[in-house]
Amino acid sequence: MEQVKKQRILSGIQPSGTPTLGNYIGAMRNWKLLEDEYDCLYMIADLHAITVRQEPAKLRQQSMQLLALLLAIGLDPQKNVLFFQSHVPQHSQMAWLLNCYTYMGEMSRMTQFKDKSAKHADNINCGLFTYPILMAGDILLYQANLVPVGKDQTQHLEICRDIATRVNGLYSNVFTIPEGYYPKVGARVMSLQDPTRKMSKSDPDDCFISILDTPDTIRRKYRRAVTDSDGEIRFDPENKPGVSNLLSILCALTGQTIDELTASFAGKGYGELKAAVTDATIETLAPIQERFNQYMGDKAYLETVYRDGAARASHLAERTLQKLMKKIGYVQK
Ligand code: TYM
Repeated sequence: MEQVKKQRILSGIQPSGTPTLGNYIGAMRNWKLLEDEYDCLYMIADLHAITVRQEPAKLRQQSMQLLALLLAIGLDPQKNVLFFQSHVPQHSQMAWLLNCYTYMGEMSRMTQFKDKSAKHADNINCGLFTYPILMAGDILLYQANLVPVGKDQTQHLEICRDIATRVNGLYSNVFTIPEGYYPKVGARVMSLQDPTRKMSKSDPDDCFISILDTPDTIRRKYRRAVTDSDGEIRFDPENKPGVSNLLSILCALTGQTIDELTASFAGKGYGELKAAVTDATIETLAPIQERFNQYMGDKAYLETVYRDGAARASHLAERTLQKLMKKIGYVQK
């Protein structure tokens, strides 16, 4: 039987803290769902992480933990290429080349740059500014068709497509133009304390659920989650952002629709909604945490996974890099 070539997927996550429930619902758990149908590469974006200051020992530890977590959510390292971005030098090389095909004006419009420079006013470095170019290179190096991410990455994906289209226009047929792939529910999980902002691991601890939070911590955080005073359980993100966020999380974790959920909570109070979200979260995270601890206890295995991943990724990345370099006019090695 003729084998149909699978479409390619690339996505990444920064090791700049323990992933949140937002990272899990918005991105990571979808990666697992895609592993059979697509040819997938998932990267720990450690080059991106140093756009804000990182403590060396912590960066190393969080990077290894993230790899263990990718395995713990069930990603099979045979089916998926799992690797550290810094182990594949083609990412830095590609970023330089693409820098020269991207305009200052395009980068200055990026909302993440504006947000992060406001948060880190003492360290507005050039990496923070050119971050989307590094990310464009990550995707284009692998000729990815699809990029499964949360909604906050939309602007980065658009600029990636713009850069790829520009380079293709100049040199013809260099890059596949990628599409974003967003989950139907949970593409933007909101902060528990300020539900008009996305849940982020760089916010104070009570704003997010970490994938590694204990049941007691999860209970406490949801108990304190901001709701409103009208008492009705209804999905209305504009007027009831806190309640709507809890409903979305529950919807994402249980697979029930918003309509089914609101019907089942008719006449009930916020306490019951919070209890249901708490239970669903604990139930989802407990088996992941158990597997995480097992993987963290086997450093030798983690090493084989990331070494093998880097070799496979680098092989693919080099092909695209050489293709572009030849088109630009560099003397071939
Ligand atoms: P990062 O590390 O901030 O987040 C990893 C993934 O989690 C998603 N996400 C969310 N989804 C829903 N609700 C939230 N509150 C939430 N917070 C985060 C993000 O959309 C992302 O999919 N720049 C990227 C990492 C990256 C990358 C790439 C991604 C580097 N190179 C190439 C795709 C392709 C980032 O900082 O993600």
